[in-house]
Amino acid sequence: MTRRSEIGAAVIGSGFIGTVHVEALRRIGVHVTGVLGSNADRSAESAAALDVPRGYASLDDLLADPAVQVVHVTSPNQLHHPQVKAILAAGRHVICEKPLAMTSAESADLVAAAAASGRVAAVNFNLRFYPLNQHVSALVRGGGVGNVRLVTGRYFQDWLLFDTDWNWRLEKSKGGALRAVGDIGSHWLDLTTFLTGLRVEALLADLTTFIPIRRKPAGSVLTFSTERAAETVPMNIDTEDVALILLRFEGGARGSVAVSQLSAGRKNSLAYEIDGSTSAVSWDSETPEQLWIGHRDEPNELLIRNPALMNPAGRKAARLPGGHVEGFADTFGAAFTAVYDDVLAGRPSEAPSYATFADGHAEMRLGDAVLESARTGRWVATSEVDAR
Ligand SMILES: NC(=O)c1ccc[n+]([C@@H]2O[C@H](COP(=O)([O-])OP(=O)(O)OC[C@H]3O[C@@H](n4cnc5c(N)ncnc54)[C@H](O)[C@@H]3O)[C@@H](O)[C@H]2O)c1
Repeated sequence: MTRRSEIGAAVIGSGFIGTVHVEALRRIGVHVTGVLGSNADRSAESAAALDVPRGYASLDDLLADPAVQVVHVTSPNQLHHPQVKAILAAGRHVICEKPLAMTSAESADLVAAAAASGRVAAVNFNLRFYPLNQHVSALVRGGGVGNVRLVTGRYFQDWLLFDTDWNWRLEKSKGGALRAVGDIGSHWLDLTTFLTGLRVEALLADLTTFIPIRRKPAGSVLTFSTERAAETVPMNIDTEDVALILLRFEGGARGSVAVSQLSAGRKNSLAYEIDGSTSAVSWDSETPEQLWIGHRDEPNELLIRNPALMNPAGRKAARLPGGHVEGFADTFGAAFTAVYDDVLAGRPSEAPSYATFADGHAEMRLGDAVLESARTGRWVATSEVDAR
């Protein structure tokens, strides 16, 4: 194969993010063969709504379709491991949503399965693919801010602010033992590692559940819905609403991140600042077209995303000229373009810019360290959890 239009891709899940996957695939020219929902009827409804050829009756039905070469997994977290295992066993390439799995034992199993299969296996840490983040990664790794000393930031949302807000992520059995950290903190940790090239060596975490009982709607709920149901059932909540994490990076850099799903007014604010020995950079996902560049002895700069002004990495991820605003959905196209380059080559490349299963597993290991630190109240080295 030499062209993306010769590749067939199926998407599992057609909720909030599955729909974004389908649209991004269309935009980069990949043929979407069909979608799989939670049952055959839902699959058929989603296929009609998204105007794709097939609504698969089951995963077996999807994997029996010879037109499918790549499968995108956008189902709730507890389904990632069994679905990805089946996809790899059937010889297909896979792009799995984050977090890669429910536990690091599951993600380790998927790393091994992916390596044994020789297929392309990516985790959709799409935030790497904002053009300015690609620019920053090349800049920082190339020494453009000097030695990295401090990496600070937050990931704040407000869609779980009230006790009437509900989603499957609130149930440990569907989302995993970590909620705010697994769902959004994982993006910040992956992104800052990608930007700096530095892995976290140790961390100290404090987790808080401010709303220990929530009122679950009797009916089903869409992700990011803020409607209040009339009939509800009280549910105990045993995952964190908020996390504060201190970080030590390899090479001596220090960091901290605050993660919250209860911050009124913050819809989706992932923010970071990287302070180096010569200059600094700062970015916020709610204003993703702007990069602040801080200087000590000259005026600060504001770089507005612009292919003509970014380095080659930033330029490659951009689709539009400066001033023609790009956003969240565009990152999927840029991320998938990188993954499908490997799909066209038939195998994973040496050092891909997209997140691999190894990166997804590293996030799960950091999650283990967060849980251990919060439980014991002490610093936990990632080598401790790696040794288990
Ligand atoms: N990369 C990102 O920016 C990003 C953003 C949002 C969500 N996500 C991830 O995407 C995944 C889905 O999240 P969402 O917000 O779209 O959730 P959602 O609830 O909106 O959608 C989940 C979808 O999975 C389907 N589903 C449920 N059971 C299924 C089954 N057995 N087989 C096939 N499909 C099934 C549901 O019908 C639904 O269409 C999660 O893992 C989440 O962490 C990633």
